[in-house]
Amino acid sequence: MANLEMGYVGLEVSSFDKWEAFARDILGVMVARNADGTMSFRIDNHARRIILTEGPLDDLAYIGWEAPDRKAFEEVLARLRGAGVALESGSAEEAARRAVGSFVRFMDPNGIPQELYVDAAQAPEIFKSELVPEGFVTEGQGVGHFALVVKNRAESTRFYCDLLGMRISDYIETEIMGFPLDLTFLHCNPRHHTLALAEVPLPKRIQHMMLQVKSELRVGKAYDRCLETKQPIALTLGEHPNDRMFSFYVTTPSGFDLEYGTDGIEIDDANWTVKTFDKLSTWGHRPVGLLGETAR
Ligand SMILES: [Fe+2]
Repeated sequence: MANLEMGYVGLEVSSFDKWEAFARDILGVMVARNADGTMSFRIDNHARRIILTEGPLDDLAYIGWEAPDRKAFEEVLARLRGAGVALESGSAEEAARRAVGSFVRFMDPNGIPQELYVDAAQAPEIFKSELVPEGFVTEGQGVGHFALVVKNRAESTRFYCDLLGMRISDYIETEIMGFPLDLTFLHCNPRHHTLALAEVPLPKRIQHMMLQVKSELRVGKAYDRCLETKQPIALTLGEHPNDRMFSFYVTTPSGFDLEYGTDGIEIDDANWTVKTFDKLSTWGHRPVGLLGETAR
């Protein structure tokens, strides 16, 4: 099966103003307020990678999967049709909002809208950011990753692997404050995981989303910007045992977290062994709420 990329994501947020400041001044992405009523972020030369609409959800609204070519696009649609998944064409207006020519919409087993497309528009100007001049890691890997809140991990794994062609990267089986936490990590290109699936009692569709920069310097400077402007740090700097991502987590204006990281490993399917890890982090990633005031 051909590699997909998470080509764009839609967020429904209650405050454009808060997100605009957070995205531009903390994350270092390019922000545009568009005539169609959306706000969109660029993290590379794609015209729109993250598309925000204003609304009460404060959550993930949809994930757009980019197929590498028309053949791969048709193959994925055929598998979805074969599995009895209902398909719906997006309208021209909706496609324009996503800066793609056209797309097909369907639901995952959790009711999270998924979209499939082939052709994304490039922005007329190259990516430029004073805070992240080298840009973000997207080439062949898409936007980043999500930790999705799922109803049934096995069913969701089957959906994403059998129909969208994802592969299992590894598992983490651990405990948080006495409660078991089991995660399944899935990849659809060299990025270690594009989705992490967890059955957790959270009210949102995602626990966090991740954006990847190209050096520890960019992560460290973003961490400083968060501290200087008193952003709510959720987890301190640290490293995960499976994707080896050096990162921290900040709570976004919508209440879910954003992992800002670098140096995540890449998977070569030809020689990859699926493992199970017993902790979320090798070091760090301390919940700030559990630290003393002077330790922050
Ligand atoms: Fe993550």
